[in-house]
Amino acid sequence: MRWISCIAIQASSTWNHDVSRIAFYPMPGNEARAKGIAQALSTRADVGLGACAVHHFPDGESLAQIQPPEPGAQAVLVCTLNQPDAKTVPLLMAAATLRDLGAASVGLVAPYLAYMRQDKRFLPGQAISARVYARWLSAHFDWLLTVDPHLHRIRALPQIYTLRSRVLRAAPRMAAWIAANVANPLIVGPDGESAQWAADVAGRAGAPMVVLEKTRLGDKDVRVTVPDLRRHAGRTPVLIDDIISSGRTLVAALERLREAATPPPVCVAVHGLFAGDALAAIREAGAARVACTDTVDHPVEAIDLTSDLAQGVLDMILPVAGHGAPPFPSIGQGAEP
Ligand code: R5P
Repeated sequence: MRWISCIAIQASSTWNHDVSRIAFYPMPGNEARAKGIAQALSTRADVGLGACAVHHFPDGESLAQIQPPEPGAQAVLVCTLNQPDAKTVPLLMAAATLRDLGAASVGLVAPYLAYMRQDKRFLPGQAISARVYARWLSAHFDWLLTVDPHLHRIRALPQIYTLRSRVLRAAPRMAAWIAANVANPLIVGPDGESAQWAADVAGRAGAPMVVLEKTRLGDKDVRVTVPDLRRHAGRTPVLIDDIISSGRTLVAALERLREAATPPPVCVAVHGLFAGDALAAIREAGAARVACTDTVDHPVEAIDLTSDLAQGVLDMILPVAGHGAPPFPSIGQGAEP
């Protein structure tokens, strides 16, 4: 196994010298994301990028290997958690190894946080995956920074996570994207669970909002009903959801909107997971444009959250809130209550 090169980040005299070196470690596939966050912080803190390699043995086991941190460094693993099953074992191995190697703290930047939707036992004997996964991450990390986790029956991360956590809200950036790209929008939440994101975006965009009714009968079997939209005639529907997974929620909504003869809708989501044929099906169903934040790598228009994540990292690492340089122009964020 060979190290990727340790990338030097340009320093500046405006570093916050109260903060020890912040060493970012991208898990495989997160190199550009980690580099972007580190560069955004480079004038405000002493930052570096360390190597983290994962070897996969023929028998299916994996081995994480970490470039040792400098003594006292604050280690930050960067790993967005779509496709989480393959990523989680190496991630926990890497976190434990960073601690073994002397990191002062070990944080996790996971722009997409997996397993939040299975937040109750829907059928007898099912795992409550959100709670199980929270225990695993909490055992290995000091803190977690994420973007709009799917909080529904679980209202806030500290209900299930015992580490320090911070949630960034993507709504301000999504609303700004809509303002720049869609004239005369009508914000549409495709189901009740999406209403919290749709309402936040609608308020910021100064647009009216409707919420559809959804029934999910299976992974790919989704039914949606649309209210009377005549008083919004001429407006472009902008479907807002937190997650696009199979895409069937948006497909069902797009089909009903087509029947209602609206202008071609736009789809905007926080996390674009795009499982299987999701994107093709969404386009086939009539989406004029699709945009998602960059919490996950995807093939559609990206809404950049890098500077928000950078500020979030600083907030997690600074011992006292407000200690240090002034914040980036930023989206909303808040420590979990
Ligand atoms: C569920 O309540 C979420 O907010 C999303 O609507 C859902 O995860 C989307 O899934 P899919 O793309 O598979 O329909």
